[in-house]
Amino acid sequence: MRDKIQQIREKALAEIDKADGLEKLNDVRAAILGKKGELTAVLKGMKDVAPDERPKVGQWVNETREAVEKLLDEKVKKFEAEALKRKYEREKIDVTMPAKRSQKGNLHPVTQVKDQLSEIFTSMGFEVYEGTEIENDYYNFTALNTPKDHPARDMQDTFYLSPEFLLRTQTSAGQIHVMEAKKPPIKVVSPGKVFRSDDDATHSPMFTQMEGLVVDKGITLCDLKGMLDQLVKKMFGKNVTTRLRPSYFPFTEPSVEVDVSCFQCHGKGCSLCKGTGWIEVLGAGVVNKKVLEGCGIDTNEYSGFAFGIGLERIAMLKYGINNIKLLFESDLRVLDQIDDN
Ligand code: DAH
Repeated sequence: MRDKIQQIREKALAEIDKADGLEKLNDVRAAILGKKGELTAVLKGMKDVAPDERPKVGQWVNETREAVEKLLDEKVKKFEAEALKRKYEREKIDVTMPAKRSQKGNLHPVTQVKDQLSEIFTSMGFEVYEGTEIENDYYNFTALNTPKDHPARDMQDTFYLSPEFLLRTQTSAGQIHVMEAKKPPIKVVSPGKVFRSDDDATHSPMFTQMEGLVVDKGITLCDLKGMLDQLVKKMFGKNVTTRLRPSYFPFTEPSVEVDVSCFQCHGKGCSLCKGTGWIEVLGAGVVNKKVLEGCGIDTNEYSGFAFGIGLERIAMLKYGINNIKLLFESDLRVLDQIDDN
């Protein structure tokens, strides 16, 4: 019996020794220690052993079991450690490698200007109204005191879609929709695309404007000037001021052209302000009574001011762009440089 157990032990230890993986070790464990294993069979055959031999045989079996289990456990640990090491090797990260740069997009410069202005105006209590790009003649011209054959229609070369419908030439058309829909007090800005048959370094057939309209009791040109001063400080810097020059728009009386003091040279004269110290930024004025009355607003009680800003022009001034086409060519070498938000 002793020899048999010894043989089982030697065979088991030899097989464990040659095992090349966890699977093989499990096979050995089953073949020796499992329910139907060789060592288990010896225990099962104990009834045939003489009673006084049994303790000894039991002891040999136990010693063998312990020796086999010990070697098995050691080998299992070794294989597991090796597997872990291989896994770590596979998943190793070289922290000194340069990181992959994720490409971050930015908003189009005109959108950036639109967002900045919208934020300034909403902080002043303006609502935002977005009109439609197709308008009819009435909203774009007639209701803005520009009836058919009015010479001011020549100021804006219009794309007509039919005798009645056109692509709006100015966001001013939105003023009329707002005044028809709302009673004063009114305080809205209206950004959007406008269209004119016009094309050179500073003009594009499609461009973007932001209209502003305030109607309330006792509104004067002074309110316009005060608001504009606040606006340009927030947009161009604390030291920037405005000046008003007389101008003409059919829907405002008086009408003004608004200049800002040059934010590049601060009035000394440079190429941006063409040596004048001032830069023209928008048109504005006191809303013509005829326009208010056409919308059913009592001009004995209410008055208003309005303004229209060309957003491409502001973007060009702010970001030093000298040709409006650069804003429409979608060249990332240009657009990537402008990230103000
Ligand atoms: N609509 C004018 C334009 O396109 C800009 C403008 C001027 C709008 C004066 C106004 C304003 O509301 O009061 O040239």
